[in-house]
Amino acid sequence: MDVEPARPVLVLTGAGISAESGLPSFRGADGLWEGWRLEEVATPEAFARQPETVQRFYNERRRSLLAASVAPNPAHLALARLADRWPGGVVLVTQNIDDLHERGGSASVVHMHGELLKVRCLGCQAVTLWRKDVAAVSACDACGQAGRLRPHVVWFGEMPLALDVIEAAIEACGLFIAIGTSGNVYPAAGFVDAVRRVGHAHTIEVNLDASAVTSAFDEVRRGPASVRVPELVDELLAGLP
Ligand code: OAD
Repeated sequence: MDVEPARPVLVLTGAGISAESGLPSFRGADGLWEGWRLEEVATPEAFARQPETVQRFYNERRRSLLAASVAPNPAHLALARLADRWPGGVVLVTQNIDDLHERGGSASVVHMHGELLKVRCLGCQAVTLWRKDVAAVSACDACGQAGRLRPHVVWFGEMPLALDVIEAAIEACGLFIAIGTSGNVYPAAGFVDAVRRVGHAHTIEVNLDASAVTSAFDEVRRGPASVRVPELVDELLAGLP
């Protein structure tokens, strides 16, 4: 693998990297979208129609994330190690709304689909930290208004966050690694094609199974993220001059 150390590594993670930490992914057997209809909990229309159901879904997710048994796994830790050592730096973009990259030691994480442990006030627009359930009467910590909080997550039909930062990383990177994502949701699923169009990065997919965009990658590494990601990071660091 020929990668320029002076160029940043762009990493895109999906629910598969957190599966071994005890958080269910979205698609496939036992996935979240098996038990819940996406249109009922992950769209602005659903929130307008039935806010209690949507809040309940995210309250459950938040409680699961904060359960004592949930912790970062070796894949999260390895990516923090890569960011500490890679000369050109790492731009870590995640579709995950959990905080396992941060708990695993990554200082700078781009949460393109938002964050479960934050809420946004529809009154004053402030984004604030939130670790409890959100109730109909919950008040915004910034402005004090009650009943105006929504999860700080990106729903289907809404614009992902930080696309300017991601666009710059696509242009600059010398290596693109997609980990544990099924390649079903755009724009993230299109990053590999965008990187290839720029033309100077090697592309690697790490996944248990084939994703919807596997054929677009230069290299595919099959297996659990907790094993394949530390291996890959060791390999990259060993190849540094
Ligand atoms: P998915 O649930 O669609 O895909 C998870 C991927 O991880 C699959 O390709 C699995 O094969 C793979 N996988 C599972 N366990 C793994 C493991 N231990 N090691 C490596 N790979 C593993 O999740 P995402 O692709 O992240 O968006 O889903 C993308 C978006 O769809 C989410 O951010 C969410 C969802 O609807 C919104 O809610 C806006």
